[in-house]
Amino acid sequence: MCGIVGYAGTKPALPVLLDGLARLEYRGYDSAGVAWIENGEIQRTRCQGKLAGLRELLENGKRSECPIGIGHTRWATHGAPTEENAHPHTDCTKSLVVVHNGIIENYYSLREQLKKEGHKFRSETDTEVLAHLIEKHLKDDIIDAVRKTLSEVEGAFAMGVLWKGEPDKLIAARKESPLVLGAGEGENFMASDIPALLPYTREIIFLEDGDLAVLTADGIDITRIDTGEPVNREIKTISWDATAAEKAGFRHFMLKEIYEQPQGVLNTFRGRVIPETGEVDLPEIELADEDIRKISRIVLLACGTSWHAGLVAKYWIEEWAGIPVEVDLASEFRYRRLLVDETVLTVPISQSGETADTLAGLRIAKEKGSPVIAICNVVGSTITRESHGTIYTHAGPEIGVASTKAFTSQLTALYILALFLAQVKDTMSAEERSEKIHALTEVPRLMEKHLEEIHQACTDLSDEFYQYRDFLYLGRHLHFPIALEGALKLKEISYIHAEGYAAGEMKHGPIALIDRNMPVVALVPKDHVYDKMVSNVEEVRSRRGIIIAVAEEGDENVARVAQHIIRVPATTEQSIKPFIFTLPLQLIAYEISFARGCDVDQPRNLAKSVTVE
Ligand code: G6P
Repeated sequence: MCGIVGYAGTKPALPVLLDGLARLEYRGYDSAGVAWIENGEIQRTRCQGKLAGLRELLENGKRSECPIGIGHTRWATHGAPTEENAHPHTDCTKSLVVVHNGIIENYYSLREQLKKEGHKFRSETDTEVLAHLIEKHLKDDIIDAVRKTLSEVEGAFAMGVLWKGEPDKLIAARKESPLVLGAGEGENFMASDIPALLPYTREIIFLEDGDLAVLTADGIDITRIDTGEPVNREIKTISWDATAAEKAGFRHFMLKEIYEQPQGVLNTFRGRVIPETGEVDLPEIELADEDIRKISRIVLLACGTSWHAGLVAKYWIEEWAGIPVEVDLASEFRYRRLLVDETVLTVPISQSGETADTLAGLRIAKEKGSPVIAICNVVGSTITRESHGTIYTHAGPEIGVASTKAFTSQLTALYILALFLAQVKDTMSAEERSEKIHALTEVPRLMEKHLEEIHQACTDLSDEFYQYRDFLYLGRHLHFPIALEGALKLKEISYIHAEGYAAGEMKHGPIALIDRNMPVVALVPKDHVYDKMVSNVEEVRSRRGIIIAVAEEGDENVARVAQHIIRVPATTEQSIKPFIFTLPLQLIAYEISFARGCDVDQPRNLAKSVTVE
């Protein structure tokens, strides 16, 4: 999730670009860069790290009054966060520059082909492919070259292009990554998100997938990428203030991030699975197939929410790949006698890639000869650098301290990992894998479609429940860890005592707690333990407990036992249900926290990244 900006006008572009990037830094801050055209030549300044570094470079170096330019702030997905990998990227002859947000799925094959044709690559990014492809297609019509390029790339993009041959034109295009245009007086703008533009204009055009726009100081022309047909896009006037805009109109980052989950899941499986054939491609696992077949055990190592993702994955991996899995809390793992050797695969799971206990655990496992493949959201973080390979989750930066979109992206990466292991070990047929992949690819759409109604149900519920002091969360099988995660979310942000429990274990203790003062959130998916779960809920009911059931649409049976029901969409494939059942638990916690007046994004005593023991 990077941020891009562009300006075409009559004022100097650089201050506008830097200011815009500062407002987009929440989208990533691994590196920053700008480019403009001076005396007919492309100029570019880039810097590893935050924008402050780029500002300093520009203050001490190149200055320009040039009235056109593009800029980028990077959240690394392909290639480490270095200066070479920083945008804007250029072609062999430095005749054009590109900034890009998104993922070019077929970049590897395109790059190999372009290399054969003599193109020289200077970075490890997928974006650089765009610059060289445009160069390849460019005769004298830059727009035509961009169109041809975009017809060859697969994946997602929001991009901006400058060409020295037509120094008054800024070209913008998008597919599945956000891009807005700003219409001004004698100046026009492009940006990944509205906050970057608000100091300059409130007249915003939302580009649609497949749109290509040409911006000059005098106007904006929008056409379709594939056909070249002109299209009209309405100009909307935005009334948000800058702070609200950074949160895209949401009250808090946490809520925004809950709503970003469809995109996070999609970005994480994109390019890694082929639904039709059931194939999974994970080149990040640099282990030979024969070594994978020799794996005797897998240790999933994590803290907090990431640990819960690991607990879900245990069911998938054991079921599909037949490999025993241990899920360890990193803080416990590091201080016990470890029976780990080169046949044990260690998988640290971490959003930040900096959690001290997880890092310490991975170092010990590595010392014992275990191959280490991390699952992580932050490219270039310590955990990724010290692991033998990393499967990145592509959730984008998570700002709310309580993890939400990182969790469902971790589930996605682990789901794919489980299928990959099954594929290599041949423990599942291609048809079965294909079914599972198809189901996974449905998740973003299901989430997107139902988030608002689930949210409304959780808001209504919070009015009634925000003053309670204790909650119990119950689930079985895949939904036992989801119950733990639901309880953790509530604890973290609303300071209410909440316990997650395996429903079948309730009779061994927690059932003694049931009374009118402790609501019980019961996860009741239609799975193979549905009847058992319903019986557990009945046990609560017969002790006069208050039950809030999370249940699938069409499940009328639950209404017999639960006083309150939150409906989620029904799915036939059991394995994807945890993705869906997570949503109401995040939203219940969010709404209760809000109703109690808590600091949702920065709850007391907690930190986003825990780099101490
Ligand atoms: C902190 C955060 C949690 C997170 C945990 C593990 O406690 O507040 O949201 O789940 O650390 O962090 P990691 O970055 O390793 O996933």
